[in-house]
Amino acid sequence: MNHRPLWRAPLDETMQRAVAQLRATGFARFEAAQSRDLLGLPLECFGPYTESWERLDPDEWMGDGGTYRRRRFATFSVEGGTIVRKPHQRHYQSRLHNQLNGGVDRWFSPVEPKIADHPITHGLLSLGTSLAYRITDTAETHWHGEMHQFRIEGKAFERATPTPEGLHRDGVTLVIMMLIDRRNMLGGVTGIRDSEGRNLADLELASPFEMVVVDDRRLQHVVTPIKPIKSPESAVRDALVLTFRPEMADHISDASTLSRRRQSAKLMFARENIEE
Ligand SMILES: [Fe+2]
Repeated sequence: MNHRPLWRAPLDETMQRAVAQLRATGFARFEAAQSRDLLGLPLECFGPYTESWERLDPDEWMGDGGTYRRRRFATFSVEGGTIVRKPHQRHYQSRLHNQLNGGVDRWFSPVEPKIADHPITHGLLSLGTSLAYRITDTAETHWHGEMHQFRIEGKAFERATPTPEGLHRDGVTLVIMMLIDRRNMLGGVTGIRDSEGRNLADLELASPFEMVVVDDRRLQHVVTPIKPIKSPESAVRDALVLTFRPEMADHISDASTLSRRRQSAKLMFARENIEE
């Protein structure tokens, strides 16, 4: 299956509108049909993709001690339309961006190969990179993409929230938040706020493949807790989050990279002094 190439391709009307909205307000919403249309894939390929959310593993790194989140994680290099999955690696956020779970290397189960390689994943990586490229007016052609598969399971008397860290930025350039499925669920409203916390929008993603794209440099986001409509069955909210930043950007949240760079700078300095 081939997806429509989006990297620096001429923009269709939906993409032109999305770029204009991102530039004007910092976020853009895509209805489910628009997302599917942009991906340009036959309907039958969506079912096997979403079924993989049945096979996520518990998030063992919850600072609030919660057991309500399952996930998988993958990272990609996207350069000039070529997408390469990177070796499995930690996920790191600074305390600045995630006061609850930041400041430590977190290891999650890898995204299954057939899902990481799936045309839907590649289509969304192309879409995100294309949008990030256009809103930043950069010559940057090499992007780092991260993929998070999430399931939140909400019970009647237990707080279950898709964003336990609260209102936040992810510390990247662009974020795609896509609903994969919701069952027996109340809540789960995506709030978009400006850098001062002022309310710009509250969006309820209702249908599979509906998504919101956010300029993470300008805006913050949050998702409200979920509750079951009918107990004792749990509420379920499945989501896909993709983030994008320039590959060589000084990632402000990446303290260990900064520390490694400082160390290598010291080593270079020492080496130069020895050679002199
Ligand atoms: Fe986030």
